[in-house]
Amino acid sequence: MNNIFILGGTSGIGKALAELLIYKGYNVFIAGRNVDKVEILPYSNKLKLDVTKKECSDILKKFLEKNNIDTFIYSSGVGYVNHNLEEEKELKAVEVNVTGFTRCINVAYHYLSSKNDKTILAAISSVAGIRGLRHAPSYSASKAYIITYLEALRGISYKNKSGVSIVDIRPGFVKTPLIGGESGKYAFFTVTSEKAAKIIYKALEKRRKRIFVPWFWGFIALIIRVLPEFIFRLI
Ligand SMILES: NC(=O)c1ccc[n+]([C@@H]2O[C@H](COP(=O)([O-])OP(=O)(O)OC[C@H]3O[C@@H](n4cnc5c(N)ncnc54)[C@H](OP(=O)(O)O)[C@@H]3O)[C@@H](O)[C@H]2O)c1
Repeated sequence: MNNIFILGGTSGIGKALAELLIYKGYNVFIAGRNVDKVEILPYSNKLKLDVTKKECSDILKKFLEKNNIDTFIYSSGVGYVNHNLEEEKELKAVEVNVTGFTRCINVAYHYLSSKNDKTILAAISSVAGIRGLRHAPSYSASKAYIITYLEALRGISYKNKSGVSIVDIRPGFVKTPLIGGESGKYAFFTVTSEKAAKIIYKALEKRRKRIFVPWFWGFIALIIRVLPEFIFRLI
């Protein structure tokens, strides 16, 4: 873990992780649509990238190669509470969390697995991907996709004896713009993005397969998984 690239490093969890890794002395690179607003890094360490654009694959590939990236983290994501099933919101989550994710993760996996070295590919999924949440159907389904995709990728990496460790990061609630920003009303168990970054950093160091952020969400996820649907739909 030397040259670390965070896609979605412009805000929330990704930004907090970038700040922590810079503090720890790593060579950090970030990407997102709004990199210009982030002043913690020089121009050369920032990549303006919109994962919904097809051309982003080539741009990303060149940037990873040029900077000899060995750790890739996908933190980009959008999500909406959408009880009325507004089509635009449902499709936006698919565009970023499914299509954009697949596009970028493919580039990253091909690139990392071609290196004769130990590398890390991590992505932020969510506890929301464990079951179908009625509050945010598309978001919840998109996170289930990420969880499943990462498991499949781990299988490919194992079969091909590649040096790529696949890390699935599953936060519960983290205080970021995604769920309300500074003015949001948060459940008492919501953690700060700084706290989440510390947990994620440890998981990356240990190359964990999957982690819950914080740990007690793993326990909650176990319960959620076995709840009968007639109870789960009331939550
Ligand atoms: N906050 C939570 O409670 C929570 C819980 C579970 C999982 N997560 C997941 O954690 C990840 C980070 O979210 P966050 O909470 O830190 O939210 P956030 O502060 O809103 O950050 C979202 C990030 O996604 C990037 N992004 C959005 N659309 C993009 C696009 N089209 N192209 C490239 N980048 C794009 C944004 O960058 P630009 O705007 O610069 O493009 C930003 O850096 C997401 O995947 C989210 O689903 C969050």
